[in-house]
Amino acid sequence: MTEPAVILGVETSCDETACAVVADGRRVLSNVVASQIELHARFGGVVPELASRAHIEAVNTVIEEALAQAGVGGEQIDAVAVTNEPGLIGSLLVGLMAAKTLAWAWQVPLVGIDHVYAHAYSTALEAEPIEYPAVALVCSGGHTALYHCRSPVELELMGGTMDDAAGEAFDKVASILKLGYPGGPAIDKAARNGDPKAVAFPRSLLAGQSLDFSFSGLKTAVLYHVNGVPGRIRPGKKSGPAKRGIENFSQDEIADIAASFQAAVVDVLRIKLRRAARAAGARTLILGGGVAANSALRRSAEELAGKLACTLRLPEMRFCVDNAAMVAGLAYHYLRAGQAAGLDLQARATVRK
Ligand code: KG4
Ligand code: ZN
Repeated sequence: MTEPAVILGVETSCDETACAVVADGRRVLSNVVASQIELHARFGGVVPELASRAHIEAVNTVIEEALAQAGVGGEQIDAVAVTNEPGLIGSLLVGLMAAKTLAWAWQVPLVGIDHVYAHAYSTALEAEPIEYPAVALVCSGGHTALYHCRSPVELELMGGTMDDAAGEAFDKVASILKLGYPGGPAIDKAARNGDPKAVAFPRSLLAGQSLDFSFSGLKTAVLYHVNGVPGRIRPGKKSGPAKRGIENFSQDEIADIAASFQAAVVDVLRIKLRRAARAAGARTLILGGGVAANSALRRSAEELAGKLACTLRLPEMRFCVDNAAMVAGLAYHYLRAGQAAGLDLQARATVRK
């Protein structure tokens, strides 16, 4: 292929319909994202069937807009990239069919991209190439995973969550604290006025050298802190659970809970990231995914990188959240490695091991 390779990327794995045009794997010519946040907000989480339908309605317009903003026509596109795993299966299929259609119509290669790998690549956009080996911590609403990266396309899973993803824990705790959806930004904001040491919430799976995560116990600890432990008898009362309910907490107390919860998540992420970096002999630490927008996590990762003498790569805010620029950017490296897909490319809901 003659360089620069201009690649159109499509991303529909969850609740963002996104399309981007990227040159050379890192020059972002356009990056269009149609968010469905408002559609799902009243349900407190993404409703898969609604998400697929909204993708169908938005996908053509988003693709047209990405081409227009990049100032290119189909004849200038060298390849089409698409997220084909992991994600909501109905949502993935919408993007996959759109991408296959374009690749066939334009007679250019199709590249299938792993969404989590794309998050691990997102810090290379509009920036210098990443120095490898690197360790990437990808935390989003659907994933919490640590990867040993030897190149943009050689990733080995070092550890992942055994239950909730970090972003999911943020969303569920924000719902318990009635802070709104999506929960991550709301908790980040509330935590700024709180004391991270006010409540001693648990830090899970710290023993030994485990690189796996568990956040469901932490979420339950917040629930019990707010509503009381079911069945526990209150001192001085004959019976009944010690229910308080969030409406009985002051704004200051809620800020303390948010800050203490966030500190528990960030502590665990930092400890595992340090373990993984040492095990991989990493020169670079990478954060990716929506939770990489968290201010406390960013600060903590900066400190850690300084101590380990590693370079820290933090994605720009627009590349933290789901976007198609990371998909088109990573596809460039797959093409250079000769790894294009066929038009029989399948979608897969689960994470690649
Ligand atoms: O990567 P992303 O946009 O979508 C998924 O692939 O899930 O991540 C969304 C997740 C949500 O759970 C959201 O609450 C979380 O990222 N998030 C944050 C922050 N901003 C977004 N979590 C913590 N702090 C933030 N500032
Ligand atoms: Zn994501």
